[in-house]
Amino acid sequence: MNTMKPSKPVILTGVRANNNIHIGNYFGAILPIINMTKRRPDEYDINLFIPDLHSFTTPIDHSKLYDSTLNNARVYTAAGLSLDNPSIHLYRQSYIPAHSELTWILDCFTGFGEMSRMTQFKDKGSKGDASVGLFNYPVLMAADILLYGATYVPVGDDQTQHLELTRDIAERMNRKFGDLFTVPKPVIQQHQFFGKDQGLRIKDLVNPAKKMSKSDESGKGIIFLSDDPKSAHKKIMSATTDSIGKVQYDKENQPGISNLLEILTLVRQDADGEVTLEKTANEYFGMDRYGDFKRIVADEVAEFLENFQNRLAAVDERAIEEKLASSEKDMNVVANETLYRVQKAVGLRK
Ligand code: TRP
Repeated sequence: MNTMKPSKPVILTGVRANNNIHIGNYFGAILPIINMTKRRPDEYDINLFIPDLHSFTTPIDHSKLYDSTLNNARVYTAAGLSLDNPSIHLYRQSYIPAHSELTWILDCFTGFGEMSRMTQFKDKGSKGDASVGLFNYPVLMAADILLYGATYVPVGDDQTQHLELTRDIAERMNRKFGDLFTVPKPVIQQHQFFGKDQGLRIKDLVNPAKKMSKSDESGKGIIFLSDDPKSAHKKIMSATTDSIGKVQYDKENQPGISNLLEILTLVRQDADGEVTLEKTANEYFGMDRYGDFKRIVADEVAEFLENFQNRLAAVDERAIEEKLASSEKDMNVVANETLYRVQKAVGLRK
């Protein structure tokens, strides 16, 4: 059995389209990926897909799914994704049926025991009413990766276990059926390849001990990309700080202030890529009026949102739809080749 050798190594990643994208998603996941697509020269194929099938492992408002999926593509574009680079493939998972078919086959080579050890499911899904989809979604993720022979998959800490599972499934099937899949690089090599970009975690404004997350119900600690700049301004002004009374970057003792310094750095980077955390932290070091400091951060966050929202409103819808359609056509060919190889290996095809 021949391993399909893609002409170029494949970098692959998906960012989930759920409700509202917040600045934690944007600066922590989306922007690093878009910057990577700019930096990585054309010797890679870059598969940037929207895992729409992953979007309802937990209950959602289905009347919004189609548009929020498209909105992800709009956000990528507003963040600077090039739509006319032929090495970049932008596609929706559900438009390539091979994802679902390969998942079923992989399911039958995945142990119930190993799946039960997935910590994300244990954290999120142990409530009793969790869906089988939530339990099974790491296998769908394995299919997402293995269909395209991806070597590099930038994943955050919450996804490293799923990447390891993908490698285990691929190696197991390779042992049984010969060289069927390209095995993605182990986590350490992923980190070496992508650098520190992925590590950034913006914290919740109200409770800076935890990361900014859409599962926070009140919304007060989160800044959404769609927030009215004025209301975002208010959220920053009422962010939790501390009683130390001096601005400095000290994550342990001043998590709120440190978070604001990080946010300020990130919104400044949007305008000037050279700005570093060190530079921002030095600029405000020792400032003793938190109100004044917060106003600076709030003003600049509001300005960032206004700029971003203008860019989002100006994206070329037609160009996005054309890009999706052409990538989905091309990726169906690639994915079906892999699927066929697997179908033959397991005896479904001759
Ligand atoms: N599970 C990822 C997340 O929740 C999204 C995702 C789905 C993904 N399939 C993937 C990421 C394949 C990388 C590769 O963020």
